[in-house]
Amino acid sequence: MAGVAAVAASAAPITGLRAIYFGISGGPVHLPALDAALEAFAARNALQCGFCTPGMLASALACVAAGGPADRTAVRNDISGNCCRRTSYRSVVDAICDAIAAEKSAA
Ligand code: FES
Repeated sequence: MAGVAAVAASAAPITGLRAIYFGISGGPVHLPALDAALEAFAARNALQCGFCTPGMLASALACVAAGGPADRTAVRNDISGNCCRRTSYRSVVDAICDAIAAEKSAA
């Protein structure tokens, strides 16, 4: 199923996440931006209960890949399809803006 992404995790802490699966038979793919996003989420305390984390990380990668500015309003719009039961949107937005900025400074 092209275009569908899911974040793979196990019972290990979320910081152990290192692969994203695309499609049904695509297998794991390491994305360099995932490391920057994970670091930013950890630094900003955006990795919380984990219910919303896979979707937030997938959205973060999409934001980084889009190459837009680290703009809070744009990021809020981009993650609007993800519901966080803990309402940690502020820390998630901060983390995604940091990941975007890190990607731009690395380029
Ligand atoms: S951190 Fe738990 S739902 Fe978002």
